[in-house]
Amino acid sequence: MMVKTAVKPKHLLTITDLTPGELQAVLDAAIELKTRGWISVLKNKTMALVFEKPSLRTRVSFEVAMRQMGGQSLYLSPEEVGLGKRESIPDVARVLSRFVDVIVVRTFAQHNLEVLAEYSSVPVINALSDFEHPCQAVADLLTIYEIKGKLKWLTVAYIGDGNNVANSLMLACAMTSVNFNIASPKGYTIDASVLKKAQTYAKTSGAKIFTTEDPQAAARDADVIYTDTWTSMGQEAEAAARRKAFAGYQVNEKLLTLTKKNSIVMHCLPAHHGEEVAVGLLDSPRSVVFDQAENRLHAQKALLAWIFAKK
Ligand code: CP
Ligand code: NVA
Repeated sequence: MMVKTAVKPKHLLTITDLTPGELQAVLDAAIELKTRGWISVLKNKTMALVFEKPSLRTRVSFEVAMRQMGGQSLYLSPEEVGLGKRESIPDVARVLSRFVDVIVVRTFAQHNLEVLAEYSSVPVINALSDFEHPCQAVADLLTIYEIKGKLKWLTVAYIGDGNNVANSLMLACAMTSVNFNIASPKGYTIDASVLKKAQTYAKTSGAKIFTTEDPQAAARDADVIYTDTWTSMGQEAEAAARRKAFAGYQVNEKLLTLTKKNSIVMHCLPAHHGEEVAVGLLDSPRSVVFDQAENRLHAQKALLAWIFAKK
């Protein structure tokens, strides 16, 4: 029988499970780990990936990160675990905790992650929920930091759906003194509680948060222009209505002319070329999306190192 520890494990359910100082330290660690390649710091650690939705980047980057750090991983597909269907979430958490050292979960409801974390005796990492995508935000900041050489007082313009990616990115920017403009149509604006939280962080960091329905106002003088799919996983039935609502929100050359001359184009991927982003734009020199995708690997390594570091 496994001996229960009284110490609560660290979890990463939201980007705000990191303090602003820890987020900066994770970014610094990611830069260092990127130069080091394979290291054996997570020898004898096992990670379970419990995914209720498809994934390319998140799954592969976590698996490769664990392998390159000396640990092992196992992938559990939606059919296998049946989170809350085949088995209750508390039972899944308690059983997995007896086998593995960290549980990485991609699920629909943020609440599922909270229940898993409550019952797990090992760390739980949010690999995307309908509410947040914290690991993506770390890779996004890492990419901006590398390309621009700083974060402070840069401006990120996010054009599109106020979704999981937008939530984590807005909070991450507010935590690191990055100004954040977001343009979304009515009905698809960022969650009010996230905005309020971001404003609280911004008060301390000095970042400016600007919300608008006008993509041009958001894009003006931005250093980074960022977009994501109009229809997230699980919203497929709304695709036609969303295409209509987001019609004026495409990131294209015309919108780009309003941004700074050396601005970069970002997208968490997968992209829908010709919808949220113009055909060809992600292949242009302004696009950094493949650097951004690669940085998922280095960010995951830094996050795993943080999760396993002694408190
Ligand atoms: N950006 C991202 O999370 O990609 P996947 O859905 O492929 O993991
Ligand atoms: N907002 C998208 C992100 C995919 C990585 C989704 O949830 O489907």
